[in-house]
Amino acid sequence: MTKDRLIIFDTTLRDGEQSPGASMTRDEKLRIARNLEKLRVDVIEAGFAISSPGDFEAVKAIADTIVDSTVCSLARAVRPDIERAAEALKGAKRARIHTFIATSPIHMEYKLQMRPEQVLEQAVSAVKLARNLVGDVEFSLEDGSRTEFEFACRVIEAAIDAGAGTINIPDTVGYGEPEEYGAMIGRLIQAVPNADKAIFSVHCHNDLGLAVANSLSAVLNGARQVECTINGLGERAGNAALEEIVMAVRTRKDRYPVETGIDISHIVPTSRLVSSITGFPVQPNKAIVGANAFAHESGIHQDGVLKHRETYEIMRAQDVGWGANRIVLGKLSGRAAFASRLEALGISFDTKEELAAAFARFKELADKKREIYDEDLQALVSEVQSQELPEKYSLVTMEVVSRTGQAPRADLAIRVDGDLQRVVAEGDGAVDAIFKAIEKLVNSETNLQLYSVNAVTEGTEAQGEVTVRLEKEGRIVNGQGADTDVLVASARAYLHALNLLVTPGRLHPQLEGV
Ligand code: KIV
Ligand code: ZN
Repeated sequence: MTKDRLIIFDTTLRDGEQSPGASMTRDEKLRIARNLEKLRVDVIEAGFAISSPGDFEAVKAIADTIVDSTVCSLARAVRPDIERAAEALKGAKRARIHTFIATSPIHMEYKLQMRPEQVLEQAVSAVKLARNLVGDVEFSLEDGSRTEFEFACRVIEAAIDAGAGTINIPDTVGYGEPEEYGAMIGRLIQAVPNADKAIFSVHCHNDLGLAVANSLSAVLNGARQVECTINGLGERAGNAALEEIVMAVRTRKDRYPVETGIDISHIVPTSRLVSSITGFPVQPNKAIVGANAFAHESGIHQDGVLKHRETYEIMRAQDVGWGANRIVLGKLSGRAAFASRLEALGISFDTKEELAAAFARFKELADKKREIYDEDLQALVSEVQSQELPEKYSLVTMEVVSRTGQAPRADLAIRVDGDLQRVVAEGDGAVDAIFKAIEKLVNSETNLQLYSVNAVTEGTEAQGEVTVRLEKEGRIVNGQGADTDVLVASARAYLHALNLLVTPGRLHPQLEGV
């Protein structure tokens, strides 16, 4: 059977970033984009250029750097968004503008307060404008799965006539059910007269845990682009997980008439990188990329696997990049070895000073930890890059005393807007004492929503990567810190979150109706 190409459109840097607290800096996005290129995704949705100057810069940097994947920016179906997207994409070898407008009755009436005819007209003008600026335009019918069939057909036909080469039918609220959603895609492809002039795409949210199943059902019914994210990151319950889609069509070749161009050996390293940068840990039982995904706990399974692997394993752990974490560097490694390993990981710095700061951190780490893995380097670079934010607060020194029978006490020296300040506090535990000390000084009026620690690698000398999620007036940020001392990492993560809160927020593409 000849196979069609299934286009993998990764939206980790756009929809993934819409997860509360997952916002990333330009350099973090660039690191992920380089890894997505190595993974050989077809399209990288790099952001929503008009949402903030930072997002514009991130889309631009990715467009200027990536050569093998198409780089895409989201734009609402209005002139300023589309022009801003085109501006950010100017340097791209292959650029795509992804423009969208809601087409379901509920969204048109309450969010847009527009009549269907107006929506249709606006969609057509947006696609035409975008096509005048770039050759590759995707149009999405937001809330497509709840859009009336006849209206969807009219909008799609008009958008294709206006020049859209890809038509995306999102299941925006994760309401779809596999059989029904797949059938809808199949019927649209049959009913739209010019359907053969466009690729049909799907974009499923996971509110009912059906995002991957819905996407695969659509593939069986003719969709040839799937929009997905690494680790299933995304708005609310997330998007369809890239790794699951890719491995499903590959493992069940007998069922799916498609193949992807993905280099699956980069799946696990990319998953780890996204988790480390966003502070969203991967659950251990997550398919493909969870720590237990290939662990055979029970004796019967182990015996079977040892006798004949296929008895219980349908995929090979090493094929998707498990075990790729090598000891790469140690105490004696010099600056050249350090820089060359970073280059292999797709990491570069804008200035020599940043490289020098990263190298200094590496030396400190190598003094405490004998074996430095790729994951350690990624965490270290995240640390260094997180300090590129305007640093209102930074940790200078810290002493924590924790004795049985006594309340732990934290004594911190923190620089606030350049002034060195000292603060002491007691708490229920050592971490509590540190956070109380910081709050005594800062009085941020935030709510602590999450505190989590993950070991970057194995063993007790591993670095602890701490995530602190703070909420203030509805805005959520994830601060991160990594260190072999989890208390230091905790203080850094808390201060990083506070620094994020003082940076300007950005526009949400779907909540700000046009
Ligand atoms: O979920 C959705 O509908 C989206 C669109 C902007 C494509 O993210
Ligand atoms: Zn979405």
